[in-house]
Amino acid sequence: MALHPEIDYGTPARVGAPVTLEIDGQAITVPAGTSIMHAAVEAGLSIPKLCATDNLEPFGSCRLCLVEIDGRRGTPASCTTPVEPGMKVKTQTPRLEKLRKGVMELYISDHPLDCLTCAANGDCELQDMAGAVGLREVRYGYEGANHFDAKKDVSNPYFTFDPAKCIACSRCVRACEEVQGTFALTIGARGFESHVSAGQDEDFIGSECVSCGACVQACPTATLIEKSVIELGQPRREVVTTCAYCGVGCSFKAELNGNTVVRMTPWKDGKANHGHSCVKGRFAWGYAAHKERILKPMIRTSIDLPWREVSWDEAINYAASEFKRIQAKYGRTSVGGITSSRCTNEETFLVQKLIRTAFGNNNVDTCARVCHSPTGYGLKTTLGTSAGTQDFDSVDETDVALVIGANPTDAHPVFASRMKRRLRQGAKLIVVDPRRIDLVRTPHVEAQFHLALKPGTNVAVVNALAHVIATEGLLDEDYIKERCDLESFREWLAFIRQPLNSPEASEAYTGVPAADLRGAARLYATGGRGAIYYGLGVTEHSQGSTTVMAMANLAMLTGNIGRNGVGVNPLRGQNNVQGACDMGSFPHELSGYRHVSDASTRALFESAWGVVIDPEPGLRIPNMLDAAVDGSFKGLYVQGEDILQSDPNTHHVGAGLAAMECVVVQDLFLNETANYAHVFLPGSSFLEKDGTFTNAERRISLVRKAIPPMAGKADWEATMALSAALGYPMNYKHPSEIMDEIARLTPTFAGVSFKRIEELGSIQWPCNDKAPEGTPIMHEKGFVRGKGLFVLTEFVPTEERTGPRFPLILTTGRILSQYNVGAQTRRTANSVWHEEDRLEIHPVDAEDRGINDGDWVQLKSRAGDTTLRARVSERMQPGVVYTTFHHPDTGANVVTTEFSDWATDCPEYKVTAVQVRPTNRRSDWQEENDEFTRRARRIAAAPAAE
Ligand code: SF4
Ligand code: SF4
Ligand code: SF4
Ligand code: FES
Repeated sequence: MALHPEIDYGTPARVGAPVTLEIDGQAITVPAGTSIMHAAVEAGLSIPKLCATDNLEPFGSCRLCLVEIDGRRGTPASCTTPVEPGMKVKTQTPRLEKLRKGVMELYISDHPLDCLTCAANGDCELQDMAGAVGLREVRYGYEGANHFDAKKDVSNPYFTFDPAKCIACSRCVRACEEVQGTFALTIGARGFESHVSAGQDEDFIGSECVSCGACVQACPTATLIEKSVIELGQPRREVVTTCAYCGVGCSFKAELNGNTVVRMTPWKDGKANHGHSCVKGRFAWGYAAHKERILKPMIRTSIDLPWREVSWDEAINYAASEFKRIQAKYGRTSVGGITSSRCTNEETFLVQKLIRTAFGNNNVDTCARVCHSPTGYGLKTTLGTSAGTQDFDSVDETDVALVIGANPTDAHPVFASRMKRRLRQGAKLIVVDPRRIDLVRTPHVEAQFHLALKPGTNVAVVNALAHVIATEGLLDEDYIKERCDLESFREWLAFIRQPLNSPEASEAYTGVPAADLRGAARLYATGGRGAIYYGLGVTEHSQGSTTVMAMANLAMLTGNIGRNGVGVNPLRGQNNVQGACDMGSFPHELSGYRHVSDASTRALFESAWGVVIDPEPGLRIPNMLDAAVDGSFKGLYVQGEDILQSDPNTHHVGAGLAAMECVVVQDLFLNETANYAHVFLPGSSFLEKDGTFTNAERRISLVRKAIPPMAGKADWEATMALSAALGYPMNYKHPSEIMDEIARLTPTFAGVSFKRIEELGSIQWPCNDKAPEGTPIMHEKGFVRGKGLFVLTEFVPTEERTGPRFPLILTTGRILSQYNVGAQTRRTANSVWHEEDRLEIHPVDAEDRGINDGDWVQLKSRAGDTTLRARVSERMQPGVVYTTFHHPDTGANVVTTEFSDWATDCPEYKVTAVQVRPTNRRSDWQEENDEFTRRARRIAAAPAAE
């Protein structure tokens, strides 16, 4: 598609009673509060402008948008003047033309006239406006005072700041404040000396800037511009697609020259992001063309041998023959597969279909096992649907946000910006987190309560919140009577009122002062619309599912489910983790969360697929690895998932993989799991295929092919080829046909098709006859399961205990610039912000151990040890240390243990008892791993005799 500039209405749309006015003789009706500028664009007219753009509040500084209004003196700015009934406006008169030319002359006299060589040539609003006002000469000349010598800041890896070209319109400053909420930019000095600066006249890289790019997008000139545009020139075509990083699911326009991406611009019509983005989606796409991508299939008969590059046919046939051999020797259930939450719904559906048809078993699982499987279990049990209840827009109506075990500014940044905007408008905030995350105190936002609990005590804290509400009579009795299962409620009420659930009783082990907990409970129950947002800090515990159900209890207790501004909202990690779960990636469920033991569901799939489906659930990932170590599981197909790095207890994962006879890894890069693989199938990036992703709001968005698959096949095509070689041909010509099959087999997707998504922009499931345009808010008229079920949520402390040998608790998380195991972001300039995983430790704990900031330390648990550098930080509470898991050479998961959620086996990443001590050597594991990885990644230079 050629470039289609989006319409800029100049000022935001408003909601209000209709107002009719006349602009240049044309009648137009718009909502009250709309600016004259916005109304004019609606009428198909355009008024010159520079400081206005429609995602920012009007500012009225450039004086280019002047208009005349009958009966009014002067020439008001159309961007700051709201419409009035009967108003008569003129946008083009000789007087206005003269005034505008005068304004433009002033701008141009202080602007370097290097348009022909400027990177923004053709995409510069100053240039456009000079043309629009008919500027032909500059009376003031170019010799007067100017800013031409101002120093260019190139410190940010992705964009430059050239103050010589700045027109001081302050769009960047306002974008940073209003859209991003970081407040990194200011306009310094006054008058002619006024200038934009990051922080206190720092360079961008040293400032508070988080590189979201909102200022770059807002800048009307080349002052702030992408380095990729400077290097590659202006893009010539665009494809609207969906970000492949996190579960926010931002829509982007991939802008290209030929098959080279020039930039990613957040799409204004994207319903998850409304034109905003974070540093990952907007800038960290270089990995897709990184030199380390593997573009040829490879095989080897043993993991000790070098890889041998082969044709697709040879690799697929080898993999299929190995799987068949293994099944013949060890039985039908000796093989399985793992679907990818990075791949499309269609690709995920095909992998689980391959396993249930060509493999003939249910041994399929997905990475949600290690992140949000407790969400699926907990919300399905209590409410009836394994998904969040709201859309992101709902936060605009929230009065009290309760954020538990989530760090939105780092892990879900675009949603965080949205939430921060609501908080700046006056909504209240409760943060439940062992760490003092950024949200606790950030510009113009401060949490009313930060409940800094001890890791592993979520259930006790949520129970205590409910106890206060239940015992102080703050519950919503009418809601409960009408919407909930009363028998379960009465039983639960008796349980929760017990003194053992009180804040006073739990304070000793949660570490949360009872008074704070009581205050937070009262605020959530009485502060208006209360919304719970949570993340992996809830789910990755031995009681992850229990906490999810405790939060659902809390929301039902206060009537906070089933309308705008409320709900229980999991902030999903990976771009398509919701979709991977929806598509039947779990060993016990077919698509739409229907249990394999249900005969009628099986019959539906059996008749469509022509096979018999096993009524018994298959193996989960940890069971597959255990069975491999025991010798009964021998073959694995892993698409787009690096289990060696992302799953807990790395040594055990390695032992399981090493015991298998055929491991097929399909990925962009030779990841850590591929060290144990026998077949490597090159993966395709999100730019190289069509399909859909489903984000944390259940929103299904199209992923569109921007360039052909670099290795010749998209992932869904490779899966089809493998299935055919296994004797179960699938004949889809396009992913839309796979979605049609999903819709036929899955009631919640019955109304979904690529065509329908094109028409609506995106669709939130359920989408069917009852909800033909999808479902933004769940459980509006009643719970999906009928009556909301209160579940007893007794607090059971984890078996992982601190003691003399391991006195500290390790908890893990993410940071903004890196993503998960870092396979993509480590191959981009994002590494300038996070070159290595560090261990955050409280100053008291550090001092006790003689550890200074930056020292190498040994982090040791009963599962293993690793060496990394320390960051002494008061964000931690004493007794708790924290690290990220973005770098394979740190191997944070070498330390995490086998404990997991009682219901779903989701690993307990967030609680590991550890010891930390200074060291001057790397761990044995790291030394051995270096050597093993080096050997495992050898690729034979020429066809090798294996
Ligand atoms: S990139 Fe984002 S955070 Fe940085 S200055 Fe611009 S708007 Fe602010
Ligand atoms: S940097 Fe760009 S957006 Fe910011 S004030 Fe200058 S011209 Fe305006
Ligand atoms: S918030 Fe998530 S989906 Fe949006 S641009 Fe960033 S990584 Fe991509
Ligand atoms: S666009 Fe209205 S004053 Fe600048």
